[in-house]
Amino acid sequence: MSQNRHAIPSTLPQGAPPVRHFLQLTDFSSEEILYLLDRAAFIKQKFKTFERHQPLADRTLAMIFEKASTRTRVSFEAGMYQLGGSVVHLTTGDSQLGRSEPIEDSAKVISRMTDIVMIRTFEQTKIERFAAHSRVPVINGLTNEFHPCQILADIFTFIEHRGPIAGKTVAWVGDGNNMANTWLQAAALLGFHLRVSTPSGYEVNETTAAAPASLGGGSYRTYADPMQACAGADLVTTDVWTSMGYEAENEVRRKAFAAWCVDRKMMAAAAPGALFMHCLPAHRGEEVEAEVIDGPQSVVWDEAENRMHVQKALMEYLLLGRQ
Ligand code: CP
Ligand code: NVA
Repeated sequence: MSQNRHAIPSTLPQGAPPVRHFLQLTDFSSEEILYLLDRAAFIKQKFKTFERHQPLADRTLAMIFEKASTRTRVSFEAGMYQLGGSVVHLTTGDSQLGRSEPIEDSAKVISRMTDIVMIRTFEQTKIERFAAHSRVPVINGLTNEFHPCQILADIFTFIEHRGPIAGKTVAWVGDGNNMANTWLQAAALLGFHLRVSTPSGYEVNETTAAAPASLGGGSYRTYADPMQACAGADLVTTDVWTSMGYEAENEVRRKAFAAWCVDRKMMAAAAPGALFMHCLPAHRGEEVEAEVIDGPQSVVWDEAENRMHVQKALMEYLLLGRQ
């Protein structure tokens, strides 16, 4: 093998953009996010009309799961096959990742054999360390701090149902968790009004979210009363009271969050035609009343499906740039 061949840094085609990662929403500009959402609509339309779209033929996605998943696994796996590529699925339990191989070494090896990597893990610093040693793009499939693929899907779903989100009002009711942090970043990037109501002690960590100081026409306000947060909102959204990794706090949280169940009264206080979203999995009777999640304002099934369409656009963009 010639020396020159050793120097080839990755399998990206000539002219492809330099390696970019999607570790949090703010890794992309608002303009890039709007491009991705447009592109996802185009890719979804092709898929729905049985028109083949396989720009990633021969490319491989590695998916690393250190936490459970249904939607993230199915959407990335089905999506990559639809784009013409293939998938390798790894978990902590069935790989050397669970036997203390350093993340840095794992990143170097996995990124030599695959073209793009999706990771679901615990601390954001783990995915950052992996990305720092990866020569292919790395996507955050959920960390304790962020869930950017889900927020792309949520915003795509809002736009499908109600048009542009800029200037609209989104109410987050519940835990100040990875989803809430990412909503805050989205409000700053896309210029909508975010209202957050959490029980005391479970607030959004604004330092973690580190949303750009200027909210680009949007705003961010916190509310002690979830009803007030929902009043006049165009979208009401929530998530589990106990995220993965925090199970030991389950009972304490159940008590602390009792008044933060999205119910019909909160939806009635929202704007006429307000949507309800939940990233799922959901616990009916805890963070949301069954009548809300299974009711006419809920778009949770579209939201779940749209994970696949936006992530197809995301993988195409990270590997091939704008099309
Ligand atoms: N919403 C979401 O990420 O679902 P999974 O945990 O099933 O992947
Ligand atoms: N906040 C939840 C989202 C699950 C998709 C968690 O981290 O478990």
